Amino acid sequence: GRDLPVFSRGEVEGHDTLEKGIWVICGDKVYDITEFVQNHPGGASKIMLAAGKSVEPFWQIYQQHLGNPAVQEILGDLQIGWLDPKDVAGMELDLDRNDPYAREPKTHPALSVHYAKPVNAEIPPSLLMDSWITPNDLWYVRHHHPVPVEHIEGRDKLSLELGVSLGGSHTTQVLSLQDLKEKFEKKKVVATMQCGGNRRGGLNGVDDTKGTSWDVGAISNAEWAGVSLLELLRHMGVEGPEDAEKKGIKHVQFESHDGMTASIPIEKALNPYGDTIIAYEMNGVDIPKKNGYPLRAIVPGVVGVRNVKWLKSITLSSEEAEGPWQRGMNYKVFSPSVKDLNSVDIASVPTIQEQPVQSVIVSPQDGETLEVVPEEELEIKGYSWSGGGRGVIRVDVSIDSGKSWHTATLKEGSEQNPMRAWAWTFWEVSIPVPVSQGKVATKVDICCKATDYAHNCQPETPDSIWNLRGLNNNSWHHVNVNLDD
Ligand code: HEM
Repeated sequence: GRDLPVFSRGEVEGHDTLEKGIWVICGDKVYDITEFVQNHPGGASKIMLAAGKSVEPFWQIYQQHLGNPAVQEILGDLQIGWLDPKDVAGMELDLDRNDPYAREPKTHPALSVHYAKPVNAEIPPSLLMDSWITPNDLWYVRHHHPVPVEHIEGRDKLSLELGVSLGGSHTTQVLSLQDLKEKFEKKKVVATMQCGGNRRGGLNGVDDTKGTSWDVGAISNAEWAGVSLLELLRHMGVEGPEDAEKKGIKHVQFESHDGMTASIPIEKALNPYGDTIIAYEMNGVDIPKKNGYPLRAIVPGVVGVRNVKWLKSITLSSEEAEGPWQRGMNYKVFSPSVKDLNSVDIASVPTIQEQPVQSVIVSPQDGETLEVVPEEELEIKGYSWSGGGRGVIRVDVSIDSGKSWHTATLKEGSEQNPMRAWAWTFWEVSIPVPVSQGKVATKVDICCKATDYAHNCQPETPDSIWNLRGLNNNSWHHVNVNLDD
Protein backbone atom coordinates (compact mmCIF):
# COMPACT_ATOMS: atom_id res chain seq x y z
CA GLY A 1 0.00 0.00 0.00
CA ARG A 2 3.04 2.36 0.18
CA ASP A 3 2.38 3.60 -3.35
CA LEU A 4 -1.14 4.81 -2.46
CA PRO A 5 -1.69 8.60 -2.59
CA VAL A 6 -1.32 10.97 0.37
CA PHE A 7 -4.34 13.04 1.46
CA SER A 8 -4.59 16.05 3.75
CA ARG A 9 -7.06 16.05 6.63
CA GLY A 10 -9.01 18.71 4.71
CA GLU A 11 -9.41 16.42 1.69
CA VAL A 12 -10.68 13.62 3.91
CA GLU A 13 -13.13 15.98 5.61
CA GLY A 14 -14.62 16.75 2.20
CA HIS A 15 -15.76 13.13 1.91
CA ASP A 16 -18.60 12.89 4.38
CA THR A 17 -21.68 12.02 2.32
CA LEU A 18 -22.80 9.03 0.25
CA GLU A 19 -22.67 11.21 -2.87
CA LYS A 20 -19.09 12.41 -2.33
CA GLY A 21 -18.04 9.08 -0.84
CA ILE A 22 -17.40 8.43 2.84
CA TRP A 23 -13.81 8.47 3.96
CA VAL A 24 -12.40 7.93 7.42
CA ILE A 25 -8.97 8.02 8.99
CA CYS A 26 -7.55 5.32 11.23
CA GLY A 27 -4.00 5.93 12.43
CA ASP A 28 -2.16 7.25 9.40
CA LYS A 29 -4.35 5.47 6.85
CA VAL A 30 -7.30 6.78 4.85
CA TYR A 31 -10.20 4.46 4.04
CA ASP A 32 -13.20 4.71 1.71
CA ILE A 33 -16.02 3.05 3.64
CA THR A 34 -18.90 4.14 1.36
CA GLU A 35 -19.89 0.56 0.52
CA PHE A 36 -19.52 -0.68 4.08
CA VAL A 37 -21.72 1.88 5.82
CA GLN A 38 -24.99 0.00 5.24
CA ASN A 39 -23.43 -3.24 6.51
CA HIS A 40 -21.93 -1.81 9.69
CA PRO A 41 -22.95 -3.94 12.71
CA GLY A 42 -23.33 -0.76 14.75
CA GLY A 43 -25.69 0.80 12.19
CA ALA A 44 -25.26 3.40 9.46
CA SER A 45 -26.15 6.36 11.67
CA LYS A 46 -23.36 5.57 14.13
CA ILE A 47 -20.59 5.09 11.61
CA MET A 48 -21.69 8.24 9.76
CA LEU A 49 -20.72 10.27 12.83
CA ALA A 50 -17.11 9.58 11.86
CA ALA A 51 -17.54 10.47 8.17
CA GLY A 52 -14.59 12.57 7.05
CA LYS A 53 -12.92 12.18 10.45
CA SER A 54 -10.70 9.89 12.49
CA VAL A 55 -12.45 6.83 13.91
CA GLU A 56 -10.28 6.56 17.06
CA PRO A 57 -12.26 8.93 19.31
CA PHE A 58 -15.42 6.99 18.46
CA TRP A 59 -13.69 3.73 19.18
CA GLN A 60 -12.80 5.03 22.63
CA ILE A 61 -16.55 4.94 23.18
CA TYR A 62 -17.15 1.66 21.37
CA GLN A 63 -14.04 -0.29 22.28
CA GLN A 64 -15.18 -3.54 20.72
CA HIS A 65 -13.40 -2.22 17.62
CA LEU A 66 -9.98 -2.09 19.24
CA GLY A 67 -7.82 -5.04 18.30
CA ASN A 68 -10.83 -6.74 16.69
CA PRO A 69 -9.72 -8.92 13.75
CA ALA A 70 -13.13 -8.49 12.03
CA VAL A 71 -12.60 -4.72 11.97
CA GLN A 72 -9.08 -5.11 10.60
CA GLU A 73 -10.32 -7.50 7.94
CA ILE A 74 -13.02 -5.06 6.79
CA LEU A 75 -10.63 -2.12 6.70
CA GLY A 76 -7.88 -4.12 5.03
CA ASP A 77 -9.73 -4.03 1.72
CA LEU A 78 -10.80 -0.41 1.94
CA GLN A 79 -7.60 1.61 2.29
CA ILE A 80 -7.27 4.24 -0.44
CA GLY A 81 -4.34 6.23 0.84
CA TRP A 82 -2.25 7.76 3.62
CA LEU A 83 -2.86 10.76 5.80
CA ASP A 84 -0.40 13.58 5.27
CA PRO A 85 2.16 13.13 8.10
CA LYS A 86 1.68 16.83 8.98
CA ASP A 87 -1.95 16.04 9.93
CA VAL A 88 -1.45 12.83 11.89
CA ALA A 89 -0.93 14.27 15.38
CA GLY A 90 -3.50 15.69 17.77
CA MET A 91 -6.22 13.05 17.92
CA GLU A 92 -5.93 12.12 21.62
CA LEU A 93 -9.09 12.52 23.66
CA ASP A 94 -9.35 13.92 27.13
CA LEU A 95 -10.94 10.71 28.34
CA ASP A 96 -11.06 11.59 32.00
CA ARG A 97 -13.46 14.36 31.18
CA ASN A 98 -15.27 12.77 28.29
CA ASP A 99 -15.43 9.10 29.11
CA PRO A 100 -19.10 8.13 28.71
CA TYR A 101 -18.36 5.06 30.85
CA ALA A 102 -17.15 7.07 33.83
CA ARG A 103 -20.43 6.50 35.69
CA GLU A 104 -21.06 2.99 34.39
CA PRO A 105 -22.42 0.55 37.01
CA LYS A 106 -19.75 -1.97 38.01
CA THR A 107 -19.92 -5.54 36.76
CA HIS A 108 -19.23 -8.37 39.20
CA PRO A 109 -15.58 -9.51 39.14
CA ALA A 110 -16.71 -13.14 38.71
CA LEU A 111 -17.97 -12.45 35.19
CA SER A 112 -15.74 -13.20 32.20
CA VAL A 113 -15.43 -9.93 30.35
CA HIS A 114 -15.15 -9.93 26.54
CA TYR A 115 -15.38 -6.14 26.23
CA ALA A 116 -15.54 -3.58 29.01
CA LYS A 117 -16.74 -0.64 26.93
CA PRO A 118 -19.53 -1.43 26.21
CA VAL A 119 -19.83 -4.29 28.66
CA ASN A 120 -20.06 -7.76 27.11
CA ALA A 121 -19.56 -10.27 29.93
CA GLU A 122 -20.71 -13.81 30.63
CA ILE A 123 -21.19 -16.02 33.65
CA PRO A 124 -18.42 -18.63 33.98
CA PRO A 125 -19.41 -22.35 33.90
CA SER A 126 -18.37 -22.81 37.52
CA LEU A 127 -21.20 -20.48 38.61
CA LEU A 128 -23.79 -21.10 35.90
CA MET A 129 -25.76 -23.73 37.78
CA ASP A 130 -25.18 -22.79 41.41
CA SER A 131 -28.73 -21.57 41.49
CA TRP A 132 -31.65 -22.11 39.11
CA ILE A 133 -32.46 -18.41 39.46
CA THR A 134 -29.32 -16.50 38.47
CA PRO A 135 -28.45 -13.85 41.09
CA ASN A 136 -28.72 -10.36 39.54
CA ASP A 137 -25.01 -9.66 39.98
CA LEU A 138 -24.08 -12.74 38.00
CA TRP A 139 -26.39 -12.16 35.05
CA TYR A 140 -24.64 -12.04 31.70
CA VAL A 141 -24.40 -8.49 30.37
CA ARG A 142 -24.52 -7.64 26.69
CA HIS A 143 -24.61 -3.89 26.11
CA HIS A 144 -24.43 -2.17 22.75
CA HIS A 145 -23.63 1.31 24.09
CA PRO A 146 -22.75 2.98 27.39
CA VAL A 147 -25.44 2.56 30.05
CA PRO A 148 -27.64 5.68 29.58
CA VAL A 149 -27.21 6.74 33.22
CA GLU A 150 -28.28 10.34 32.60
CA HIS A 151 -31.70 9.15 31.39
CA ILE A 152 -32.49 6.65 34.10
CA GLU A 153 -31.81 8.69 37.20
CA GLY A 154 -34.27 10.96 39.00
CA ARG A 155 -37.17 8.78 40.07
CA ASP A 156 -39.87 11.41 39.57
CA LYS A 157 -39.08 11.79 35.88
CA LEU A 158 -39.15 8.12 34.98
CA SER A 159 -41.85 7.32 32.46
CA LEU A 160 -42.78 5.29 29.42
CA GLU A 161 -44.12 6.66 26.13
CA LEU A 162 -46.86 4.64 24.50
CA GLY A 163 -47.36 5.41 20.83
CA VAL A 164 -49.47 4.24 17.93
CA SER A 165 -47.91 5.00 14.56
CA LEU A 166 -50.14 4.01 11.69
CA GLY A 167 -50.77 5.32 8.18
CA GLY A 168 -48.73 8.48 8.74
CA SER A 169 -50.47 9.44 11.97
CA HIS A 170 -48.76 9.19 15.35
CA THR A 171 -50.43 9.45 18.74
CA THR A 172 -48.67 9.16 22.08
CA GLN A 173 -49.46 9.10 25.75
CA VAL A 174 -47.12 8.91 28.70
CA LEU A 175 -47.36 6.69 31.77
CA SER A 176 -45.15 7.32 34.76
CA LEU A 177 -43.33 4.49 36.46
CA GLN A 178 -45.68 5.02 39.35
CA ASP A 179 -48.75 4.70 37.07
CA LEU A 180 -47.39 1.40 35.81
CA LYS A 181 -46.91 0.12 39.34
CA GLU A 182 -50.20 1.35 40.74
CA LYS A 183 -52.74 1.25 37.92
CA PHE A 184 -51.95 -2.21 36.59
CA GLU A 185 -51.86 -5.64 38.12
CA LYS A 186 -48.36 -6.92 38.94
CA LYS A 187 -47.57 -9.96 36.85
CA LYS A 188 -44.62 -12.32 37.43
CA VAL A 189 -42.82 -14.58 35.01
CA VAL A 190 -39.71 -16.69 35.42
CA ALA A 191 -37.85 -16.47 32.15
CA THR A 192 -34.43 -17.48 30.88
CA MET A 193 -32.80 -15.09 28.48
CA GLN A 194 -30.14 -16.07 26.00
CA CYS A 195 -28.00 -13.86 23.80
CA GLY A 196 -28.30 -14.79 20.11
CA GLY A 197 -24.51 -15.11 20.17
CA ASN A 198 -24.32 -17.61 23.05
CA ARG A 199 -21.79 -20.30 22.05
CA ARG A 200 -20.54 -18.25 19.08
CA GLY A 201 -17.04 -19.42 20.06
CA GLY A 202 -18.04 -22.91 18.87
CA LEU A 203 -18.83 -21.57 15.41
CA ASN A 204 -15.51 -19.74 15.23
CA GLY A 205 -13.91 -23.20 15.34
CA VAL A 206 -15.45 -23.77 11.89
CA ASP A 207 -14.69 -20.37 10.38
CA ASP A 208 -14.45 -16.81 11.67
CA THR A 209 -17.70 -15.02 12.46
CA LYS A 210 -18.30 -11.37 13.18
CA GLY A 211 -19.08 -10.72 16.84
CA THR A 212 -18.10 -11.45 20.44
CA SER A 213 -16.70 -14.95 20.89
CA TRP A 214 -19.11 -16.05 23.64
CA ASP A 215 -18.67 -19.38 25.38
CA VAL A 216 -21.71 -21.02 27.06
CA GLY A 217 -22.54 -18.34 29.64
CA ALA A 218 -24.47 -15.71 27.66
CA ILE A 219 -27.63 -17.06 29.26
CA SER A 220 -29.27 -16.42 32.66
CA ASN A 221 -32.58 -16.91 34.46
CA ALA A 222 -34.65 -14.54 36.63
CA GLU A 223 -38.08 -13.97 38.07
CA TRP A 224 -39.35 -10.78 36.48
CA ALA A 225 -42.33 -8.73 37.65
CA GLY A 226 -44.15 -5.91 35.92
CA VAL A 227 -47.13 -5.05 33.76
CA SER A 228 -48.56 -7.46 31.23
CA LEU A 229 -47.93 -6.10 27.72
CA LEU A 230 -51.36 -7.43 26.75
CA GLU A 231 -52.91 -5.19 29.45
CA LEU A 232 -50.89 -2.21 28.23
CA LEU A 233 -52.09 -2.83 24.68
CA ARG A 234 -55.69 -2.87 25.93
CA HIS A 235 -54.93 0.40 27.73
CA MET A 236 -53.76 1.74 24.36
CA GLY A 237 -57.10 0.81 22.84
CA VAL A 238 -56.21 -2.47 21.16
CA GLU A 239 -59.06 -4.79 22.03
CA GLY A 240 -57.58 -8.01 20.70
CA PRO A 241 -56.30 -9.80 17.60
CA GLU A 242 -59.24 -8.84 15.36
CA ASP A 243 -58.98 -5.21 16.36
CA ALA A 244 -55.21 -5.20 15.76
CA GLU A 245 -55.76 -6.74 12.34
CA LYS A 246 -58.41 -4.16 11.47
CA LYS A 247 -56.08 -1.33 12.50
CA GLY A 248 -53.13 -2.83 10.64
CA ILE A 249 -50.95 -3.29 13.74
CA LYS A 250 -48.33 -5.96 13.05
CA HIS A 251 -45.38 -5.14 15.29
CA VAL A 252 -44.70 -3.81 18.76
CA GLN A 253 -41.57 -1.66 18.66
CA PHE A 254 -39.40 -1.02 21.68
CA GLU A 255 -36.96 1.86 21.96
CA SER A 256 -34.30 2.16 24.64
CA HIS A 257 -32.74 5.23 26.22
CA ASP A 258 -29.40 4.04 24.81
CA GLY A 259 -30.72 4.23 21.25
CA MET A 260 -31.39 0.49 20.80
CA THR A 261 -34.47 -0.38 18.81
CA ALA A 262 -36.14 -3.76 18.34
CA SER A 263 -39.60 -5.15 17.78
CA ILE A 264 -41.68 -8.26 18.29
CA PRO A 265 -44.65 -9.48 16.26
CA ILE A 266 -48.09 -8.44 17.54
CA GLU A 267 -49.00 -12.15 17.76
CA LYS A 268 -46.54 -12.64 20.62
CA ALA A 269 -47.65 -9.48 22.42
CA LEU A 270 -51.35 -10.30 22.22
CA ASN A 271 -51.02 -13.97 23.11
CA PRO A 272 -52.54 -14.38 26.59
CA TYR A 273 -50.26 -17.40 27.03
CA GLY A 274 -47.24 -15.47 25.70
CA ASP A 275 -46.54 -13.87 29.10
CA THR A 276 -44.74 -10.81 27.70
CA ILE A 277 -44.35 -8.15 30.38
CA ILE A 278 -42.89 -4.69 30.83
CA ALA A 279 -40.83 -5.48 33.92
CA TYR A 280 -39.80 -3.15 36.74
CA GLU A 281 -38.51 -5.86 39.08
CA MET A 282 -35.83 -8.52 38.68
CA ASN A 283 -35.67 -11.21 41.34
CA GLY A 284 -37.74 -9.16 43.78
CA VAL A 285 -35.87 -5.86 43.56
CA ASP A 286 -35.87 -2.85 41.19
CA ILE A 287 -34.11 -3.95 38.01
CA PRO A 288 -30.41 -3.06 38.48
CA LYS A 289 -29.12 -0.26 36.24
CA LYS A 290 -26.90 -2.60 34.27
CA ASN A 291 -29.87 -4.91 33.56
CA GLY A 292 -32.23 -2.24 32.27
CA TYR A 293 -33.54 -0.01 35.10
CA PRO A 294 -36.22 1.18 35.40
CA LEU A 295 -38.16 -0.74 32.73
CA ARG A 296 -37.27 -3.68 30.56
CA ALA A 297 -39.32 -5.56 27.96
CA ILE A 298 -39.37 -9.22 28.93
CA VAL A 299 -40.33 -11.35 25.94
CA PRO A 300 -40.13 -14.93 27.19
CA GLY A 301 -38.78 -17.52 24.78
CA VAL A 302 -37.40 -14.86 22.47
CA VAL A 303 -33.74 -13.94 21.83
CA GLY A 304 -32.17 -11.54 24.36
CA VAL A 305 -31.92 -8.54 22.03
CA ARG A 306 -35.73 -8.16 21.84
CA ASN A 307 -35.84 -7.86 25.65
CA VAL A 308 -35.01 -4.17 25.39
CA LYS A 309 -33.40 -2.57 28.45
CA TRP A 310 -33.90 1.02 29.72
CA LEU A 311 -37.19 1.07 27.87
CA LYS A 312 -38.16 4.56 26.70
CA SER A 313 -41.09 3.92 24.41
CA ILE A 314 -43.41 1.30 22.98
CA THR A 315 -44.87 1.95 19.53
CA LEU A 316 -47.51 -0.05 17.70
CA SER A 317 -46.87 -0.14 13.99
CA SER A 318 -47.44 -1.96 10.73
CA GLU A 319 -43.64 -2.15 10.41
CA GLU A 320 -40.74 -3.75 12.25
CA ALA A 321 -38.44 -1.42 14.21
CA GLU A 322 -35.74 0.37 12.23
CA GLY A 323 -32.08 -0.17 13.05
CA PRO A 324 -29.30 -2.74 12.72
CA TRP A 325 -30.56 -5.04 15.47
CA GLN A 326 -33.91 -5.64 13.76
CA ARG A 327 -33.70 -4.92 10.05
CA GLY A 328 -29.93 -4.96 9.67
CA MET A 329 -27.62 -7.95 9.65
CA ASN A 330 -26.80 -8.10 13.35
CA TYR A 331 -29.33 -10.72 14.35
CA LYS A 332 -29.92 -12.43 11.02
CA VAL A 333 -28.88 -15.99 10.27
CA PHE A 334 -27.65 -16.63 6.74
CA SER A 335 -26.80 -19.86 4.95
CA PRO A 336 -23.37 -21.37 5.76
CA SER A 337 -22.41 -20.55 2.17
CA VAL A 338 -22.75 -16.79 2.74
CA LYS A 339 -19.19 -15.69 3.49
CA ASP A 340 -19.54 -11.98 2.85
CA LEU A 341 -22.41 -9.58 3.25
CA ASN A 342 -22.36 -8.26 -0.28
CA SER A 343 -23.67 -11.60 -1.52
CA VAL A 344 -26.90 -11.53 0.47
CA ASP A 345 -30.12 -9.50 0.38
CA ILE A 346 -30.22 -8.70 4.11
CA ALA A 347 -33.68 -7.10 4.01
CA SER A 348 -35.28 -10.34 2.78
CA VAL A 349 -33.92 -12.43 5.68
CA PRO A 350 -36.09 -12.54 8.83
CA THR A 351 -34.46 -11.48 12.07
CA ILE A 352 -34.26 -13.89 15.03
CA GLN A 353 -37.23 -14.08 17.40
CA GLU A 354 -37.84 -17.46 19.09
CA GLN A 355 -34.69 -19.39 19.91
CA PRO A 356 -33.92 -22.99 18.92
CA VAL A 357 -33.56 -25.88 21.38
CA GLN A 358 -30.32 -25.74 23.34
CA SER A 359 -28.34 -27.78 25.86
CA VAL A 360 -24.90 -27.42 27.34
CA ILE A 361 -22.62 -29.50 29.58
CA VAL A 362 -21.63 -27.29 32.50
CA SER A 363 -19.74 -29.89 34.54
CA PRO A 364 -17.21 -31.32 33.95
CA GLN A 365 -15.59 -28.55 31.95
CA ASP A 366 -13.63 -28.88 28.75
CA GLY A 367 -10.02 -29.88 29.39
CA GLU A 368 -10.64 -30.95 32.98
CA THR A 369 -8.87 -34.00 34.44
CA LEU A 370 -11.10 -36.23 36.58
CA GLU A 371 -9.77 -38.65 39.19
CA VAL A 372 -11.81 -41.85 38.68
CA VAL A 373 -12.14 -45.41 39.92
CA PRO A 374 -13.25 -48.11 37.43
CA GLU A 375 -16.48 -49.12 39.25
CA GLU A 376 -17.54 -45.53 39.69
CA GLU A 377 -19.63 -43.25 37.53
CA LEU A 378 -18.97 -39.94 35.81
CA GLU A 379 -21.32 -37.25 37.11
CA ILE A 380 -22.33 -34.94 34.29
CA LYS A 381 -24.69 -32.00 34.51
CA GLY A 382 -25.85 -29.09 32.43
CA TYR A 383 -28.65 -26.80 31.36
CA SER A 384 -31.22 -27.08 28.58
CA TRP A 385 -33.74 -24.64 27.18
CA SER A 386 -35.81 -23.97 24.11
CA GLY A 387 -37.46 -20.88 22.67
CA GLY A 388 -41.17 -20.23 22.29
CA GLY A 389 -41.95 -21.73 25.70
CA ARG A 390 -41.36 -25.25 24.37
CA GLY A 391 -40.35 -27.34 27.34
CA VAL A 392 -37.38 -29.66 27.12
CA ILE A 393 -38.70 -33.23 27.20
CA ARG A 394 -35.41 -35.14 27.06
CA VAL A 395 -31.66 -34.66 27.21
CA ASP A 396 -29.37 -37.37 25.85
CA VAL A 397 -25.73 -37.58 26.87
CA SER A 398 -22.96 -39.60 25.26
CA ILE A 399 -19.40 -40.30 26.34
CA ASP A 400 -18.42 -41.91 23.04
CA SER A 401 -18.92 -38.95 20.68
CA GLY A 402 -22.56 -39.83 20.06
CA LYS A 403 -22.35 -43.57 19.27
CA SER A 404 -24.46 -44.48 22.31
CA TRP A 405 -26.65 -42.36 24.55
CA HIS A 406 -27.74 -42.13 28.18
CA THR A 407 -30.91 -40.28 29.09
CA ALA A 408 -30.37 -37.57 31.70
CA THR A 409 -32.68 -36.86 34.64
CA LEU A 410 -34.43 -33.52 34.24
CA LYS A 411 -34.15 -31.48 37.44
CA GLU A 412 -35.09 -27.88 38.31
CA GLY A 413 -37.40 -26.45 35.65
CA SER A 414 -38.79 -29.82 34.56
CA GLU A 415 -42.12 -29.07 36.29
CA GLN A 416 -42.92 -26.22 33.90
CA ASN A 417 -45.95 -26.32 31.59
CA PRO A 418 -44.37 -27.66 28.36
CA MET A 419 -46.21 -25.04 26.29
CA ARG A 420 -45.11 -22.18 28.55
CA ALA A 421 -41.68 -23.34 29.74
CA TRP A 422 -39.90 -19.98 29.63
CA ALA A 423 -37.14 -20.98 32.04
CA TRP A 424 -34.29 -23.39 31.52
CA THR A 425 -34.29 -26.99 32.74
CA PHE A 426 -31.27 -28.33 34.60
CA TRP A 427 -30.29 -31.97 34.02
CA GLU A 428 -27.83 -34.50 35.32
CA VAL A 429 -26.71 -38.02 34.52
CA SER A 430 -24.31 -40.62 35.91
CA ILE A 431 -22.49 -42.76 33.37
CA PRO A 432 -20.20 -45.69 34.31
CA VAL A 433 -16.51 -44.91 33.87
CA PRO A 434 -15.58 -46.43 30.50
CA VAL A 435 -13.27 -49.42 30.89
CA SER A 436 -11.90 -51.54 28.08
CA GLN A 437 -9.73 -54.64 28.63
CA GLY A 438 -9.49 -53.75 32.32
CA LYS A 439 -8.17 -50.26 31.69
CA VAL A 440 -9.90 -46.92 32.24
CA ALA A 441 -10.07 -44.83 29.08
CA THR A 442 -7.75 -41.85 29.33
CA LYS A 443 -9.74 -39.40 27.27
CA VAL A 444 -13.48 -39.08 26.73
CA ASP A 445 -15.50 -36.85 24.48
CA ILE A 446 -18.76 -36.07 26.29
CA CYS A 447 -21.60 -34.57 24.31
CA CYS A 448 -25.24 -33.73 24.89
CA LYS A 449 -28.37 -32.90 22.92
CA ALA A 450 -31.86 -31.91 24.02
CA THR A 451 -35.27 -32.50 22.48
CA ASP A 452 -38.08 -30.01 23.01
CA TYR A 453 -41.88 -30.37 23.19
CA ALA A 454 -42.14 -29.95 19.39
CA HIS A 455 -39.53 -32.73 19.03
CA ASN A 456 -37.00 -30.32 17.67
CA CYS A 457 -33.47 -31.62 18.30
CA GLN A 458 -30.08 -30.02 18.15
CA PRO A 459 -27.96 -30.33 15.00
CA GLU A 460 -24.95 -32.62 15.30
CA THR A 461 -22.26 -30.33 13.98
CA PRO A 462 -21.59 -26.60 14.02
CA ASP A 463 -20.51 -26.79 10.35
CA SER A 464 -24.05 -27.29 9.11
CA ILE A 465 -25.35 -24.21 10.93
CA TRP A 466 -22.30 -21.96 10.69
CA ASN A 467 -23.37 -18.43 9.79
CA LEU A 468 -21.46 -15.22 9.19
CA ARG A 469 -22.79 -13.43 12.27
CA GLY A 470 -22.24 -16.49 14.47
CA LEU A 471 -25.79 -16.69 15.81
CA ASN A 472 -27.96 -19.46 17.28
CA ASN A 473 -25.25 -22.05 17.78
CA ASN A 474 -27.16 -24.99 19.21
CA SER A 475 -25.07 -27.83 17.83
CA TRP A 476 -24.37 -30.77 20.17
CA HIS A 477 -22.23 -29.45 22.98
CA HIS A 478 -18.96 -31.31 23.53
CA VAL A 479 -16.46 -31.32 26.38
CA ASN A 480 -13.26 -33.33 26.27
CA VAL A 481 -11.98 -34.57 29.61
CA ASN A 482 -9.01 -36.63 30.77
CA LEU A 483 -9.59 -39.58 33.13
CA ASP A 484 -6.98 -40.47 35.68
CA ASP A 485 -7.35 -43.66 37.79
C1 HEM B 1 -19.88 -2.76 16.05
C2 HEM B 1 -16.78 -2.27 12.34
C3 HEM B 1 -16.87 2.58 12.92
C4 HEM B 1 -20.15 2.08 16.48
C5 HEM B 1 -18.97 -3.04 15.04
C6 HEM B 1 -18.54 -4.36 14.69
C7 HEM B 1 -17.68 -4.24 13.65
C8 HEM B 1 -17.57 -2.82 13.34
C9 HEM B 1 -16.95 -5.37 12.92
C10 HEM B 1 -18.96 -5.67 15.39
C11 HEM B 1 -18.09 -5.86 16.58
C12 HEM B 1 -18.43 -7.09 17.42
O1 HEM B 1 -19.59 -7.29 17.75
O2 HEM B 1 -17.48 -7.83 17.73
C13 HEM B 1 -16.54 -0.92 12.18
C14 HEM B 1 -15.64 -0.35 11.20
C15 HEM B 1 -15.68 1.02 11.37
C16 HEM B 1 -16.60 1.30 12.45
C17 HEM B 1 -14.82 -1.14 10.19
C18 HEM B 1 -14.96 2.12 10.65
C19 HEM B 1 -14.48 2.09 9.50
C20 HEM B 1 -17.74 2.86 13.97
C21 HEM B 1 -18.00 4.19 14.49
C22 HEM B 1 -18.92 4.04 15.50
C23 HEM B 1 -19.25 2.63 15.60
C24 HEM B 1 -17.36 5.44 13.97
C25 HEM B 1 -19.56 5.04 16.42
C26 HEM B 1 -19.72 6.29 16.17
C27 HEM B 1 -20.39 0.72 16.64
C28 HEM B 1 -21.30 0.18 17.62
C29 HEM B 1 -21.20 -1.21 17.50
C30 HEM B 1 -20.25 -1.49 16.44
C31 HEM B 1 -22.19 0.95 18.57
C32 HEM B 1 -21.90 -2.27 18.35
C33 HEM B 1 -23.15 -2.78 17.77
C34 HEM B 1 -23.72 -3.84 18.71
O3 HEM B 1 -23.16 -4.08 19.80
O4 HEM B 1 -24.73 -4.41 18.34
N1 HEM B 1 -18.36 -2.13 14.21
N2 HEM B 1 -17.10 0.10 12.91
N3 HEM B 1 -18.50 1.95 14.66
N4 HEM B 1 -19.79 -0.30 15.93
FE1 HEM B 1 -18.45 -0.08 14.42
